[in-house]
Order: sequence, then C-alpha cells, then structure tokens
Amino acid sequence: MDAQHWHDYCVADLPPEPPALTVRQWTRLDDAARCAHTDALRRWLEHLYVQTDELAAISAQMTDTVRANAESPPGAKQVLAVTGPNVVGKSTLMMRWARSRYLDWTGEAEHDRRGRPVLRPTLGCEADLCPVVWINLPAGAKIKDVDVEILEFFGLPGHGVTRNLYQRALRAAERHRSRVLIVDDAHLLKTDWKGGRDVLDHVKHINTELGEIGATLILVGANLEGGDLVTDPQIAGRLTLHRFPRYDIDSMAERRTWQVLVRQLEDTVAPHLPKGAPGMLFTELAGELWLRTQGYLGEVTELVRRATLAATADGTHKILRRHLAAVTLSERAESERRDTTSPRRLALAAPPTE
Ligand SMILES: Nc1ncnc2c1ncn2[C@@H]1O[C@H](COP(=O)(O)OP(=O)(O)O)[C@@H](O)[C@H]1O
Ligand SMILES: [Mg+2]
Repeated sequence: MDAQHWHDYCVADLPPEPPALTVRQWTRLDDAARCAHTDALRRWLEHLYVQTDELAAISAQMTDTVRANAESPPGAKQVLAVTGPNVVGKSTLMMRWARSRYLDWTGEAEHDRRGRPVLRPTLGCEADLCPVVWINLPAGAKIKDVDVEILEFFGLPGHGVTRNLYQRALRAAERHRSRVLIVDDAHLLKTDWKGGRDVLDHVKHINTELGEIGATLILVGANLEGGDLVTDPQIAGRLTLHRFPRYDIDSMAERRTWQVLVRQLEDTVAPHLPKGAPGMLFTELAGELWLRTQGYLGEVTELVRRATLAATADGTHKILRRHLAAVTLSERAESERRDTTSPRRLALAAPPTE
C-alpha cells in the first residue's frame, strides 16, 4: 500500500445498486439483458457489508481517542489496538474507518491536478496531505521492516542505515501531516527472539515521536491479547485494546443480536429476491446461517451473496435452504461446521422463544 493507492481506494465509487425487478420483469428480460442485470447485481453484492452496533462503537471510540491525542500536549499518546481471531473482519473495519477519517480530514484541503489533497507549509512549497498512513507488516517483521514500510508508503526509498530510516520515516509523517499510523498484521512483529526487546522499544519510540506531532499509533492484529506487544508494561499503560466482537448464539440475547445482523443482510438483498417473504433469512434460516459460518461476518455475507445469485440464476427468486447448502465456504468454516456437535444443532433447530 502506498499513499496513492490509499487515496484511490478512498475516493473510488462503489458499484451502484441495480434497480429491483419484479418476477414479471425478470421473466421478460432476454438472455443478454438478464446477464447484464445479473452482472450488475454481482458487482454490487461484492461490496455487501454488515454494520453492527459493536463495530460502530469501536469506530466511534477510535475517532474519540485520535481526536484526544491530536488535542493533548505533545508527548507519548494513547495507543489503539484492534484484535480478534483471523479473518473475523479487523482489517475491513479499519479500512472503512480510516477511509471515512481520510475523507473527513482532506475534505477542506486544496487538491492538485492529480486530485490528491495537498498542503502548503511555506510559500511556494507544496506537499501531499497524507493524514492516514497504512502499512502491512511482512512475516517476522523487525525494526527495519517497519521503517521501510512507512517510507515506501510515502514513495520514499527504503535503503540506508537503520537509524536514518527511522528519522526519515518520522520526518515524512510530519511533513505530510499524518494523523494516524495504522500497522496492519501487527501480530507479525517479531518479538520472540533475542532482539525482541529492541522491536518493542522501537514501537514505543514510534509512538513517542508520533505523539510529538499529535498523531496516533493503531495496531491491528490477530490474537494480540496476552502477547508481548500488549503486555509490555510501557505499551500496556497507554493502550486501549478493542476486541473485535464474536457473534455467538448460546444465549437468547446473542441469538437476538445474530438475528438483527441477519435481518440487515436480508433487508439489503430482499428487493432483489421478489419471491422472498419477510423472515426468509432472519427467522427461517438464521440458525443455519450461523452453523455454516460460526458467526463470522465475512462468511455470512459471502453465503447470502452467493445464495442470492443462485436464487436469481435458477429463477427461484427467494433463498431456500438448498441454495445455502450448495455453497462451499472457506475451509475454516467448513471444517468447523463438521466439528459442530449435534446437541448444538438440536438447540439451534428450535425457534427462539422468550
Ligand atoms: N462487516 C463485514 N461485512 C461483510 N463482510 C465483511 C465484514 N468484515 C469483514 N468482511 C469480509 O470478511 C473477510 C475477512 O475480513 P478481514 O477484514 O480481512 O479479516 P481480518 O483482518 O480480521 O483477518 C473479507 O473477505 C471481508 O471482505
Ligand atoms: Mg487482516
């Protein structure tokens, strides 16, 4: 990821929602028109996203912390971390949050001929405005890898003496008025070796330097809890750890939350499934959707997306259990489904009661 890619991602238009057709309109389409409409539906469905109260709360808290860090006197600031299991949706949440921050922070800025936001720190001098810096760490990342990723984000060369790299990376963040440095896949930082302490110290240095310019360090990673990064006393003392929610269905309250989430997906696709009745997913198939996906937002969205397309292709125009059954999800979801114990299946088969 570099600043140009990040900017392009932030300003890209999402595919528009195609018009909803009645059954009669679908049957009157000729083959070419049906293909074109199904393609438009597929492109739009690719961007299906589930927003939940928990995700909205994490986003709002991050915005507050970043603002407080920017407004407090220079010095080491609060570090933010987002953690949870793999593929649960952490990067997606961060991308969406950071995109909305970027658009907000650059909205009033002057834009140059390329359409990029710019600032003029002194007369006759122009620099790109890059309030969001996003880096992905490589496996086994050490000090130099972090600095190189930051430099490359700004399009600067990442070779030279390690100490200079660090200084150049932070001066670039200052010059481009960075407000957040998001380190994705922070679990790949290599802390379990003899130089591990230095890596942790480096993270602290970065936070202190970012604090001097009012910027916030955000670490995003799988299963950070209990790890070196978040238990280091100096980091832990300044850390706000956000746990990505797990959507389970053990209690009645959890089942309700799950149904609300499924209902959101149903309401989104329902206009494109003209034979579907209200409750087709959130009352009839909520338990099955959970069993198939174990509450992972990406998987349940994928399942509904593909079932919608299958129900459209075969002319059923409503999602049935067989449409779900015909979809093969990730190996994680499929193997966890095989392991799901039968008592749980039985419990799920019963409709929720008060
Ligand atoms: N809220 C959501 N709604 C719909 N799909 C989601 C959501 N969050 C994540 N996904 C999808 O789930 C998959 C895994 O998400 P990702 O953010 O890469 O997980 P993580 O960073 O936790 O490993 C991606 O395909 C992503 O598009
Ligand atoms: Mg990720």
